[in-house]
Amino acid sequence: MPHALNIEDLRRRARRRLPRVVFDYIDGGADGEVTLRENCRAFEDVTFRPRCAVVPGSCGLDTTVLGSRLAFPLILGPVGSSRLFHPGGEPAAARAAGAAGLIYVLSTLSGSRLEDVKAASSGPVWYQLYLCGGRDVASAAIARARAAGYSALVVTIDTPVAGLRERDFRNGITDILTRRPLPVLRHSAQFLSRPGWLAGFLRDGGLMRFPNIVLPDGPMAYADVGAALEQSAVCWDDLRWIREQWNGPIVIKGVHTADDARRAVDAGAEALVVSNHGGRQLDGVPATLRVLPEVVSAVAGQVEILLDGGIRRGSDIVKALCLGARCVLVGRAYAYGLAAGGEEGVSDAIRILRTDLTRTLKLLGCPSMSELNGAFVDVPAAWARVSPAALGERT
Ligand SMILES: Cc1cc2nc3c(=O)[nH]c(=O)nc-3n(C[C@H](O)[C@H](O)[C@H](O)COP(=O)(O)O)c2cc1C
Repeated sequence: MPHALNIEDLRRRARRRLPRVVFDYIDGGADGEVTLRENCRAFEDVTFRPRCAVVPGSCGLDTTVLGSRLAFPLILGPVGSSRLFHPGGEPAAARAAGAAGLIYVLSTLSGSRLEDVKAASSGPVWYQLYLCGGRDVASAAIARARAAGYSALVVTIDTPVAGLRERDFRNGITDILTRRPLPVLRHSAQFLSRPGWLAGFLRDGGLMRFPNIVLPDGPMAYADVGAALEQSAVCWDDLRWIREQWNGPIVIKGVHTADDARRAVDAGAEALVVSNHGGRQLDGVPATLRVLPEVVSAVAGQVEILLDGGIRRGSDIVKALCLGARCVLVGRAYAYGLAAGGEEGVSDAIRILRTDLTRTLKLLGCPSMSELNGAFVDVPAAWARVSPAALGERT
């Protein structure tokens, strides 16, 4: 198969390989999907101000995040249930990240044991924490993550309840998760029309449990996720407790406003992710790129600021860095690759974003990531709670 030219090519391949319910689980967002669309569209609203005739010989792409060196400023963010997209999905993505010199973040809601995922990567791996099952269950997972060598804990704070992903329900998720023959049979056409995926899914053990959420009666079942999330919403008090359990760096994911950014710093975070969960939680919040300058300005360099949401091209990464992010995370961009072609598909997604990034820096006339700043972009006047110029030079 020819190399994919862009992330949309991987998305199309994923759509061809996956049953509708799985593709839409990756691709969809909450409610009317306004925030999902806005995350991508916001990058189109920001335009470049290149410096021409200063083409640098080579562009320095590497950076550090929480002391770990990255080949370029990209992290593969937590994507739950990746094992549904391709057999061995989580270790495959972790392997591709490590081989590319990047960090992989494993979701609590993964279908693979956290120890196996850490062992698969040659690079740093972070663990994303939900409190599913309560503090005792989380405490056991944190201890396992520490023993396995995870280097940071990512606490997601935007999921007090699962967002209403309408596509999931229209595709029969409720029937399918019952695992009872009759309700499942009603939706069998979408699985039978994807025999390649179905064979891999069955070989890999079928509908999974979550081996990192170990309840008194064993690993949590897939069907119990919604209720478990609702019973285990993270609040600021929990963050104090988590701080006592984990003596490494804590990253708080799901910050939208200056107020929450300051609370996260006070709660002991070393880094924040400006994130709206890729438009999968509260629909109607603004694009992450749009709120980034507000958050950057609020924390005034006390912690590292990361961003996710809508990154599909290397030029999107550049725009986020110009507006003050140290690094970005991607979710769907690599999930499409994983679904399209396993580890190789994830490597494709990484290659696409890296090549784009180098080309964009050269076209912009910027010799290295560290020299990107607000002077390289224009943002719409209506955005300006904080002007990019006020962000000053990146350090
Ligand atoms: C299929 C899917 C599953 C996700 N699962 C999780 C999760 O388990 N934990 C979490 O913190 N974020 C999760 N996210 C959100 C991502 O970490 C990230 O915030 C989001 O995908 C960024 O937007 P993007 O997909 O446009 O890059 C998930 C996203 C997708 C697409």
